[in-house]
Amino acid sequence: MKIQMYDFQQHGDERGHLSVIEQNKDIPFKIRRVYYLYDTKQGIVRGMHSHKELEQILVCVSGSCKVKLDDGRETSVIVLDDPTKGLYVGVDTWREMYEFSDGAVLLVLASNLYDETDYIRDYDAFKKSIKK
Ligand code: TYD
Repeated sequence: MKIQMYDFQQHGDERGHLSVIEQNKDIPFKIRRVYYLYDTKQGIVRGMHSHKELEQILVCVSGSCKVKLDDGRETSVIVLDDPTKGLYVGVDTWREMYEFSDGAVLLVLASNLYDETDYIRDYDAFKKSIKK
């Protein structure tokens, strides 16, 4: 399956590093919501759903984690361990985030507000929705 990664601007100097993400410029959508996963316990798998309309960019801004994407036909595992790179996760894509390192912070930029009706949280229902 096609994996879309975005490279963000870096402004590093002797003081340290700074990266920037601007809507419609560095990523392909308008950011309507930002949330972040942190203090994730060992062995935990998060996500386990797909979205009907929501687009997201995942950035592991500290530490690392793995993301498994599944488009109903193929799966891919992506390691996120670089705060200058964002993984695009579009519609109709089952996602699981796991193997969070100690102190990992996974930042999520989302194209819409939280809406539980946009989620498909049952894997069989996801597979059926893909066939349509
Ligand atoms: P959940 O969907 O389980 O997170 P993930 O899929 O990343 O593992 O969300 C955990 C709880 O937080 C759940 O009760 C819904 C709530 N929530 C919001 O209220 N707003 C949000 O933007 C998100 C992402 C979750």
